[in-house]
Amino acid sequence: MDNNDPRKAVIVVALVAVICSSLVSAAVVLLRPIHLNNQLLERSRNIMQLTGLVAPGQRLDDEQMLALFKSLDMRIADIDTGGFDDSIDANTFDQRRSAGDPRLAVAVPANQDLAKLGTRSRFATVYLVWEGNALKRIILPIRGAGMWSMLYGYLALEGDMNTIAAASFYEQTETPGLGDQITRPDWLAKWRGRKVYDDLGDPVFAVGPGRIAPDSPAALHRVDALTGATITGDAVTSLVHYWLGPHGFQPLLNQLREQPPSQTASTANGGS
Ligand SMILES: Cc1cc2nc3c(=O)[nH]c(=O)nc-3n(C[C@H](O)[C@H](O)[C@H](O)COP(=O)(O)O)c2cc1C
Repeated sequence: MDNNDPRKAVIVVALVAVICSSLVSAAVVLLRPIHLNNQLLERSRNIMQLTGLVAPGQRLDDEQMLALFKSLDMRIADIDTGGFDDSIDANTFDQRRSAGDPRLAVAVPANQDLAKLGTRSRFATVYLVWEGNALKRIILPIRGAGMWSMLYGYLALEGDMNTIAAASFYEQTETPGLGDQITRPDWLAKWRGRKVYDDLGDPVFAVGPGRIAPDSPAALHRVDALTGATITGDAVTSLVHYWLGPHGFQPLLNQLREQPPSQTASTANGGS
């Protein structure tokens, strides 16, 4: 075929396109297990930081981290009934996917949808941390719409199901330097010791307003606002109110407070 023949250019372009797309597809398939493993590692590290089982600054290698993570007491909570559901395999359950699955998703009533979710999964993966036979902490998944993005995090409560032990946000795309300050470790450290509920049992934990003096009565329930990020900060307040409220984990937390669970035999050596 003559070099000046326009069909030749079309064939070359088509060939390059096919070869490049095959290379990209192959890379995606080959790298997927590595990507999934990295995701699991990151999630494990994130959750382990909230358990109180890893000392601040303690560096564990990947294997140690995964071994500790696997020893955690991972349960599937039925958010609607406030109990645990042992019929679902916690190792394979995907809460994020089930929020979009009509068989597993629950519509959030508009007047209760403080986190702007629309729907949520009926079930959630929660982590229990034991000290001997006593429940020391529970780690709850939380999420809600921020200014620009869905904010995904975890909230760890002490055994009283009210005092915040730790918190983290592991996925969000708020503006760097503004909304993404919710991931600042020094700010998240201030959550520790704050109470979620007031004397009436209503969730009142809040971000701001302004700076909260540590010895003021407000410090019982509030942490400092984030400068230039009131919208994201308010979204955090709202999502905590939703997830710790009656349509979120409040029924589960009430049950755990009233009838403390016992550690299962399978996890009796893990978690504390
Ligand atoms: C481009 C742009 C991006 C912004 N991103 C965020 C954000 O991610 N989170 C947020 O709360 N506010 C963000 N803001 C600021 C809000 O519009 C608003 O001014 C701020 O939340 C008020 O906080 P302040 O009361 O501390 O000033 C952004 C503003 C601009 C112009």
